[in-house]
Amino acid sequence: MSVTVRAPAKINLHLGVGAKREDGYHPLDTVYLAVSLYDDVTVSTSAVWSVDVSPIGDVDVSGVPLDDSNIVVKAGRLLTAHHGIERAAAIGISKGIPVAGGMAGGSADAAATLVALDRLWDLQTSDDDLLAIAAQLGSDVPFSLLGGTAHGTGRGELVEQVPDAGTWWWVVVPNDEGLSTSAVYRAFDALPTPAAVGSGAVLAALAGGDLDALADALHNDLEAPALELRPALRETADDLVGSGVRARLLSGSGPTYLGLVADQDSAHHIREALLDQGYERVVVATGPVAGVHLVDYA
Ligand code: C5P
Repeated sequence: MSVTVRAPAKINLHLGVGAKREDGYHPLDTVYLAVSLYDDVTVSTSAVWSVDVSPIGDVDVSGVPLDDSNIVVKAGRLLTAHHGIERAAAIGISKGIPVAGGMAGGSADAAATLVALDRLWDLQTSDDDLLAIAAQLGSDVPFSLLGGTAHGTGRGELVEQVPDAGTWWWVVVPNDEGLSTSAVYRAFDALPTPAAVGSGAVLAALAGGDLDALADALHNDLEAPALELRPALRETADDLVGSGVRARLLSGSGPTYLGLVADQDSAHHIREALLDQGYERVVVATGPVAGVHLVDYA
């Protein structure tokens, strides 16, 4: 028997980062949006844990670990430990989310694995317990479970749905070479702490479904340190602005860049223009979309 669960990518419409806490994490005031790029995770019972990864389209999966260090195995082990059971599974990941792109691909896989194994073994884990296990796996994993549009606090793991009257369209420009989240946070620490900008303007724009207000309000405190680490990204940021998007945004800790556009037609139009300009991979995505959900039970 096997179970397949789908999980979306996330972007941060607002990513306000405070000074490093004593535990090494940074306090966040963030607004998450789940968007329509997905990983599918298929699990089946096996004598030992194993991981297999295949790309959807031309996603480069060469950076994904296939051993026990993959976050999906950690997810499986935490779930079995929580229930006091000894089981293992073969985990297959179909990747449509850019790897190490700042779109929470690994977090999506971890969230999908928790739900898939819960269904496979009929563990009936409560939502609260799933969220608590997710938080142990990573700061973004609880949001991957939830999906939609949410306000995140703590180190990002405390999530609450927020009103969102819009359907937002994005042009997504992945980068060939991933960026390490912890390296970007270290670069953030080396720069002067930026003046705090709250998430209020983004939350108000979402509630009102106001594209112009959202375009003005998008904010990411990790953009400066990501550009410090990878100065060549500035060209992508400038090309996006030149392509006519309403606003550009670095996705999470990068290096994926996003352009907010008015509608689906302009998204495809701008995508074509960027491809003509020489960008090899440009994807169109929309959100909010659902969090993890079951897609197959065989
Ligand atoms: O929580 P997660 O494992 O996804 O975080 C990866 C790394 O990103 C952490 O080890 C930490 O260096 C950094 N991080 C942080 N503050 C956060 C979230 C992540 O410093 N709020």
